[in-house]
Amino acid sequence: MTDPTSDPTTEPPVLPTATYAVTGASGHLGRLAVDNLLRRGVPARNVFALVRRPDKAGDLSDLGVGVREADYDRPETLGPALEGIERLLLVSSPTVGNRLEQHTAVLRAADAADVGFVVYTSVLHADETELVLAPEHAATEDALQGSGLPFAVARNGWYTENYTGRLDEYLARGEIVGAAGDGRVSAATRADYAEAAVSLLTGDITDQQGYWELGGPAFSMADLAATITEVTGTDVTYRDLPAGEFTDVLRGAGMDEDTAGFVAALEASTAKGELETDSPALANLLGREPTSLADAIRAARL
Ligand SMILES: NC(=O)c1ccc[n+]([C@@H]2O[C@H](COP(=O)([O-])OP(=O)(O)OC[C@H]3O[C@@H](n4cnc5c(N)ncnc54)[C@H](OP(=O)(O)O)[C@@H]3O)[C@@H](O)[C@H]2O)c1
Repeated sequence: MTDPTSDPTTEPPVLPTATYAVTGASGHLGRLAVDNLLRRGVPARNVFALVRRPDKAGDLSDLGVGVREADYDRPETLGPALEGIERLLLVSSPTVGNRLEQHTAVLRAADAADVGFVVYTSVLHADETELVLAPEHAATEDALQGSGLPFAVARNGWYTENYTGRLDEYLARGEIVGAAGDGRVSAATRADYAEAAVSLLTGDITDQQGYWELGGPAFSMADLAATITEVTGTDVTYRDLPAGEFTDVLRGAGMDEDTAGFVAALEASTAKGELETDSPALANLLGREPTSLADAIRAARL
């Protein structure tokens, strides 16, 4: 499989008449992908939102798209959900630990339903990073490769929202506490990742296949603090702690042992640069620069 990252794809919809399905459509990323498909002019009748609880997806039905039940843990729902679907966006499950089984169930159903192209949202450098989240993504990528289905893997970096979602806390404390050292994060907004995934989904399959390392402009935690200060006018600094002390802070804040260890491991990966990429693929897929950190902070303040 070739690395397509140097092949800019800036023009949206090629196949408005194909049938598209998006899993996890009730979640943040999936919903943005559904919106993006419609914005590109794909008729709502060709778009299928796959959700665990159709009875709770009234907002999706209101868009005119088809809403189908698809529970990763109930394989019997997956075949009917994928009937007649030509292109599938498989948004990775949030259930860390069960994801390989869940994703494999979707891939089996996709194969049985003759889906023609699958886009899977993975994680940056999935096949070579020590990031604790990576093994399930890498194993899903292997399953995808082994399935024989044509596919593209969107190896997403961190969401900018992982930080902007904590803006009030940072501002109230006047500091960001972590153990990420000078490590930089090529974060991008969910909306940008969703748009990129839809570019892969709607594009010419021959050009889109392969592994796409996606991320925005890299920033360190000190850069994050400085940008928050600049945008909001409130002083925020970054306080870096040794890993052990950071874990103690998390425990002291009431976090259980496993979660504290998990969060500390993510910080260690950040410190090692495992969440950074200099790949231009996201900008290429968007046909513009990804949303800047400052703009994302501004938007989060509205
Ligand atoms: N790059 C990052 O920084 C980052 C951060 C967090 C997560 N992620 C990954 O990216 C994915 C998408 O992010 P997000 O922000 O959109 O997450 P999200 O808002 O939590 O959405 C997760 C979606 O998965 C669905 N889901 C959960 N269990 C399911 C099951 N058994 N069967 C079918 N659907 C199920 C949820 O459905 P319900 O509405 O029914 O719960 C929801 O629609 C996450 O699932 C996770 O794998 C990435």
